[in-house]
Amino acid sequence: MRVSIEVNGTAVAGEVPDRTLLVHYLRDTAGLTGTNIGCDTTSCGACTVLLDGESVKSCTVLAAQADGHEVTTVEGLAGGSADDRLHPVQRAFREQHGLQCGFCTPGMMLATVSLLRENPKPSRDEVRTALEGNLCRCTGYHNIVNAVMDASGQEVAR
Ligand code: FES
Ligand code: FES
Repeated sequence: MRVSIEVNGTAVAGEVPDRTLLVHYLRDTAGLTGTNIGCDTTSCGACTVLLDGESVKSCTVLAAQADGHEVTTVEGLAGGSADDRLHPVQRAFREQHGLQCGFCTPGMMLATVSLLRENPKPSRDEVRTALEGNLCRCTGYHNIVNAVMDASGQEVAR
């Protein structure tokens, strides 16, 4: 089937098998590999993107379901390549060392954008609850939670 999705403000159209998952469409048809595949079973959140502004795990959404809709991936967050064009969430992850190995980071950042849109000043507990579906296998969540607090203009924990 033919699918056309507005990805990061640009229409991306392609002919794909009906069962193509959105994550594969983004990586293979749109050529945007910042959306990672960690588990393929809706567990890890590495594939999180925004679909019409709502965070979704793109390994559980068919590309056909996103046909005619808007998707934002991590590549769409920054306004440009210079540091000062980073999205505030990207800047905070960098400054708070929330990147760690970085495999989970794109999903974490998209989930954070979604959280802060709904709850601009979350508590640390609310941040942890909101990121429950995003797994990080590295050193822990301390710096990630700090990054979200920083992005929301709140104090970080040392
Ligand atoms: S790859 Fe989608 S949740 Fe893990
Ligand atoms: S930084 Fe998240 S899995 Fe490594």
